[in-house]
This record gives sequence, C-alpha cells and structure tokens, in this order.
Amino acid sequence: MKRTLPGVVVITGASGAIGSALAGVYAAPGMCMALQGRDKMRLEATASNCRAKGADVFVCEMDVRDAPALRAWLEAFDTQHPVDLLMADAGIANVLDDLSHWETPVATEEVINTNLFGTINTVMPIAERMRMRGHGHIAIVSSLAALRGMAISPAYCASKSALHAWGQAIRPLLGAMGISLTMIYPGFVKSNMSDAFPASKPFLMDAAKAAAQMRRGLDARKATIAFPVILWVGLKLLNALPDPWADSVMSFLQLSPKKRP
Ligand SMILES: NC(=O)c1ccc[n+]([C@@H]2O[C@H](COP(=O)([O-])OP(=O)(O)OC[C@H]3O[C@@H](n4cnc5c(N)ncnc54)[C@H](OP(=O)(O)O)[C@@H]3O)[C@@H](O)[C@H]2O)c1
Repeated sequence: MKRTLPGVVVITGASGAIGSALAGVYAAPGMCMALQGRDKMRLEATASNCRAKGADVFVCEMDVRDAPALRAWLEAFDTQHPVDLLMADAGIANVLDDLSHWETPVATEEVINTNLFGTINTVMPIAERMRMRGHGHIAIVSSLAALRGMAISPAYCASKSALHAWGQAIRPLLGAMGISLTMIYPGFVKSNMSDAFPASKPFLMDAAKAAAQMRRGLDARKATIAFPVILWVGLKLLNALPDPWADSVMSFLQLSPKKRP
C-alpha cells in the first residue's frame, strides 16, 4: 500500500468550522486542495487563507445531496488532480429544546440525507477512482454521538451511527483495493453547529485544536480518530450498562432535552 503524505486533498464542509480548520492544517506550498461548501463567502474565506499559505485551491459551491452534480464535479477534479486524501466533513444537526415535541419528518429527512447520503455521495466517486489507482485515503467525519443516541438529537445521532456502521462495513472492501479509511469521531467542537446545541458541552474544544489532532491521526493512517478520549471511553463503558441506567446517566449529563416547566 502506497503511504506518502497527501499532495491533493478534497474537503467537504470547508466553509464550516472544522472543515476550514482542517483546510488550514493542510494548506502549504505544493498542496492542491478542493474545498466544498455552500456558503460562498465562508468558503472563499477558507480558500483565501489556504492560498495565503501557498496552496493551489479550487472551490466548489455545491450541495452534497445533489449526487449527480457532486459526482460530475469530483470526477472532473480527480481527472485533473488525482485525489490522495478525501475528507467527508459536511454535515448538519437538528436539536430539540424540550421533550414536548418530536422531530419533524422534514428535519429528519434533511439530516439523514445530508449526513448519511451526502457522505456516501462524496465517498463513492472518489473511492472508485482510488480503486483504479490501487491507493488513496478516505476520512469520514462521524461524531461521538454515533456511540450513544441522545434524546436531544435523534436524527443526527442516527445519521452519525449509520456512518459509523457504513465505515466499518466498507473498511475491508476499501482495504482490499489498497485504500485506507479513517473514521473520525469528534466530541464537542466550537462551531455554529455546537453553538446551537442547547445543552451541556463537556470538554468543548476549539476547531484548530481538533483539526491538528485529526491531522496527526490522518498522517498515521489511523483507522479511528476519537476525541476527547475520556468521552470516547466513557461512552463505550456506558453502552455496557443496561439501557435504563445508561439513559439516566445521559439525563444526568444534561444530554437530554429539558422538561418544559
Ligand atoms: N462541532 C461539533 O461539536 C461536532 C462534533 C462531532 C462531529 N461534528 C461533525 O463535524 C462536521 C463539521 O461540523 P462543524 O462543527 O464544522 O459545523 P459547521 O461549522 O456548521 O459546518 C458544517 C459544514 O457542512 C456544510 N454542509 C452542511 N450541509 C451541507 C450540504 N447539504 N451540502 C454541502 N455542504 C453542507 C456546511 O456548508 P455551508 O455552511 O456552506 O452550507 C459547512 O461547511 C459535521 O459533519 C458535524 O456533524 C461536529
């Protein structure tokens, strides 16, 4: 398996906090970067920062739910610049602020379509190209929320848990083609997404620190990058408890919506 540091990287969600911080830790002279997002201004800000660090940058304003358009763009980019590292980071969250209502079908569908199908739409075209080359590296940003459903965000947890299972399922398939897969499970990272989370955010980390930790793990081609370790281990232990006990712990940690007074 070819294991050199990447020269060509694609990052989805590059207009967001984690994606732009990831772009920042990869930007350097000689790097070729494709940055995807939807918000033109935030995407251009990330691109400018990367260009200032000497990288060659291409931007792609696109919705990851638009599978045909995304495939066409990724294939065209890969033809010009064979991708070494693809980071599928784009995602959204939906949260409940109390226990008196349920997620709407529209919100549920939007979250699953973006986080699960949007990631699959991103990974498949590049995985096919890497397969032909016999090498490459794919990283998928899931979440620690994949490990234990939180009553505060059912669809989000389901989407990230589905990505966790999908990643486990495709790892051997990709490995047989010479492609590495890294699954990333961040805890709370400061961003617009986490700012909107209406409950406690234990061990909240800033995006630059999270991106630096991701880069170290990616350079080592780790299969799993999960942080903070204390939460990762804690959630694994929690899952060993009977569910009613685990639910009580989640409630105690205020990771459930508040009851309406
Ligand atoms: N922040 C946390 O605490 C945390 C924890 C665990 C995992 N994560 C995961 O980390 C990833 C990045 O999150 P973040 O915290 O950086 O949030 P963020 O600042 O809100 O960024 C989200 C990014 O995803 C993009 N995106 C969302 N929907 C999209 C769509 N349909 N098509 C294309 N791009 C889309 C956004 O683009 P536009 O803004 O341009 O639309 C933005 O670039 C997400 O997958 C998230 O689930 C975050």
